[in-house]
Amino acid sequence: MTAGNGNDTLFLANISKHVYAFDISQEAIIRSRKRLAEKHNVTLICDSHVNIDKYIKDKIRLFIFNLGYLPNSDELRITKANDTLVAFKKAYDLLEEGGYIIITFYIGHRGGKDEYYLLDDYIKKNRFQLLETYRQDRIESPITYIIRKS
Ligand SMILES: C[S@@+](CC[C@H](N)C(=O)[O-])C[C@H]1O[C@@H](n2cnc3c(N)ncnc32)[C@H](O)[C@@H]1O
Repeated sequence: MTAGNGNDTLFLANISKHVYAFDISQEAIIRSRKRLAEKHNVTLICDSHVNIDKYIKDKIRLFIFNLGYLPNSDELRITKANDTLVAFKKAYDLLEEGGYIIITFYIGHRGGKDEYYLLDDYIKKNRFQLLETYRQDRIESPITYIIRKS
């Protein structure tokens, strides 16, 4: 859901039949294309993850949201709470039964905190199956949730 430098996409390409990778940043798509040059099972899409349903018609086994901004780039092109919530809802609709969403929040900056609170509230109020929460023992370290659709 956030291609960035293509690291998560490469990981997924090695274990999947096909990967769709989205990013609003042209720079991220260029970096990812380089990183994934030898992979033939990846579709890179320069668009917001808010629009995933325009591109994906299949059921999906696993979504990865690695939020925030592209390292060493424009920090203003950051994921935004309301868009992330829309994308999360669409991803959940496209997820197959028993599939997973892995989502990592970076709460060290203001927008990241708002994003975390909004999504956390939505996930808990709607009683999604939250399998795991990872958080290092450090102030404002990233938080990762693993959610399963059941
Ligand atoms: C932390 S980086 C992702 C790292 C990446 N998964 C990797 O493996 O290198 C966050 C990315 O989200 C992208 N982004 C921000 N808003 C977005 C949106 N609405 N839709 C898709 N990508 C977005 C940024 O451009 C940035 O590249």
